[in-house]
Amino acid sequence: RIAAHLNPPNFELRREECRAKGGAPGFKVAILGAAGGIGQSLALLMKMNPLVSVLHLYDVVNSPGVTADISHMDTTAVVMFFLQVKEGENITMLNLLYECMHGLTLSYYCGVFIFQVRGFLGQPQLEAALTGMDLVVIPAGVPRKPGMTRDDLFNINAGIVRTLCEGVAKCCPNAVVNLISNPVNSTVPIAAEVFKKAGTYNPKRLLGVTTLDVTRANTFVGEVLGLDPKMVDVPVVGGHAGVTILPLLSQVKPPCSFTPEETEYLTKRIQDGGTEVVQAKAGAGSATLSMAYAAAKFADACLRGLKGDAGVVECAFVASEVTELPFFASKVRLGRAGAEEVYQLGPLNEYERIGLEKAKKELAESIQKGTNFIKK
Ligand code: NAI
Repeated sequence: RIAAHLNPPNFELRREECRAKGGAPGFKVAILGAAGGIGQSLALLMKMNPLVSVLHLYDVVNSPGVTADISHMDTTAVVMFFLQVKEGENITMLNLLYECMHGLTLSYYCGVFIFQVRGFLGQPQLEAALTGMDLVVIPAGVPRKPGMTRDDLFNINAGIVRTLCEGVAKCCPNAVVNLISNPVNSTVPIAAEVFKKAGTYNPKRLLGVTTLDVTRANTFVGEVLGLDPKMVDVPVVGGHAGVTILPLLSQVKPPCSFTPEETEYLTKRIQDGGTEVVQAKAGAGSATLSMAYAAAKFADACLRGLKGDAGVVECAFVASEVTELPFFASKVRLGRAGAEEVYQLGPLNEYERIGLEKAKKELAESIQKGTNFIKK
């Protein structure tokens, strides 16, 4: 019965209609750097996300193989209901099922939108990879090796991020961008300048991904408190490198207190979490699996925001007026417009106030470096 109503005349139009009326949204997501350590696992997780209906996997190497592999997963056929109701009429899922079951005439079309995964290889295919995307996740670029700081990656990754963001500005200027490539404290300002130059900058739609710092903080604090990390919520603010990663342990939920030794141990461990993985991998790269998990969690939060879900709050590195710096990581509320509200830091204790001053000093330099890369 459903099949009889398949293939409405203008699929894209119907899709938009469906989304506007709160039906299955079927967002289009691109991953740039999809064949890398983070990219592959992230592609796998996004293929399992029911909010995604089109997944574009772009890289300069190996993307056809990753795409073929991922596309065999039998996950997520998004059912699209193309409403044909008159203005003001309200159709619910139950109405639809009732009508299907009782053979009544449908006053609307419905169809099954099969999840599509497409691969794109190299610069000539960048535009095709990006056209029409709702969300672009960027984990492209080189990772750290032992002894390197995130800033050591600047020379290679700055150029990669610039090229990819030029593509975003041209082909999907309204997409939400999740920037993972390091150093995030500089690559987000680079992306902002590229978008400003192209006349497409929307600060609400550019988000540096710092979710891994939060998942690490929740895990390590959970260990100390003997709690399931899922029950723990640690705000991590500032940026995404060394001392700029500032966990606000005085604001942990559920409310708790730490000794000075515990505070020192936890703050250092959260700040050095990335280096812990880089050293353990001994030259084979940096965090990929936990990062893909964190990126998928953050992308899902962005999609839930775009869909119109209420109360979606995550930490992210965004354009901000929380401090005197133009960018800063703090809790943000995600909505249809992207980062719709950037929350203040709340009360800090003395240890955190000292940490904030250190973080701001380093952040200011990293932000300036990113901005200068495009401006000069
Ligand atoms: P990887 O080397 O395994 O993968 C990077 C991928 O990017 C490769 O497949 C490569 O071919 C691709 N790539 C290079 N240039 C490209 C271009 N111009 N266009 C498209 N793709 C391109 O590296 P991994 O481990 O996946 O890390 C990626 C980035 O994520 C690094 O910069 C790393 O520092 C960063 N990272 C960020 C974290 C965060 O919390 N924001 C955490 C962990 C890593």
